[in-house]
Amino acid sequence: MTMGKITKAVIPAAGLGTRFLPATKAMPKEMLPVVDRPAIQYVVEEAVNAGLTDLLMITGRNKRSLEDHFDREPGLERALELKGDQGRLDLVQQASELGPIHYVRQGEPKGLGHAVLCASQHVGNEPFAVLLGDDLIDEAETLLTTMMDVQQKTGGSVIALIEVDPSEISAYGCADITAIEGEDFVRVNNLVEKPAAGEAPSNLAVIGRYVLHPSVFGVLENTEPGRGGEIQLTDALQTMAAGEGEGSGVYGVVFKGRRYDTGDKLSYLKAVITLASERVEFGEELKTWLKAFVG
Ligand code: UTP
Repeated sequence: MTMGKITKAVIPAAGLGTRFLPATKAMPKEMLPVVDRPAIQYVVEEAVNAGLTDLLMITGRNKRSLEDHFDREPGLERALELKGDQGRLDLVQQASELGPIHYVRQGEPKGLGHAVLCASQHVGNEPFAVLLGDDLIDEAETLLTTMMDVQQKTGGSVIALIEVDPSEISAYGCADITAIEGEDFVRVNNLVEKPAAGEAPSNLAVIGRYVLHPSVFGVLENTEPGRGGEIQLTDALQTMAAGEGEGSGVYGVVFKGRRYDTGDKLSYLKAVITLASERVEFGEELKTWLKAFVG
């Protein structure tokens, strides 16, 4: 079967966000502001900029603010109109103009694999992108477009990898890969979720962008809960990497650009400072202050 153009993006945002407690006790981590926009808005904008037109967000309890953020807010819009504050009105409307977003709730946070499985009915039998709601890729990067091209070329599934210091690999899923001659993507032979430093097959870590073949749904249905009692997407991808036949095969794109995990406190702070220091309104002033502050 030939697969058509990729149009669907699945954005899982139903995790508990325990690494960011207590801020995430009553508020989703995806709503934490990065300068002046919630982290999730950058992710939705990235999907839209990559040409994806059908957006599905996986949400859960405590996540209503996510839906509100991407909805119209007529009362606020009217108040800004009356004040003649066009600048802020544009900012408010930007989020609701990103296109209709569909939502499905993951009744219980049973893992990323389970969150992706919640998208199966909506996605159907097409390849689709997955963008984790707390993982930010710099807007100047074209990672997702490259990954979609690789999916179309290979017919398998595609993951994004970054090189990390070997001491950090135990915080990530890790990929065992083989280079493919003449290609700028790699074949993924095996994946290990959060390996101990000495047991990692490489220093290539899986980050939060995927372009998946729909056969992942059948594999996820048969994937037992793994690490932490959660259904791991990594485990399903491992099965697909080892499998044969239609839709099997996992490929990796090694990403060298800027990326931030806003679900981690330190990485979140770095994201805020980096992106704020590039803002025309106050970037220079912030950098001057930072230099003086660190002495
Ligand atoms: P993480 O492992 O970073 O999310 O999942 P978490 O479980 O919320 O975070 P901590 O470790 O407790 O701080 C990666 C992505 O998968 C989503 C999360 O919302 C995040 O975008 N996720 C995770 C789900 O949608 N459902 C789940 O059951 C688990």
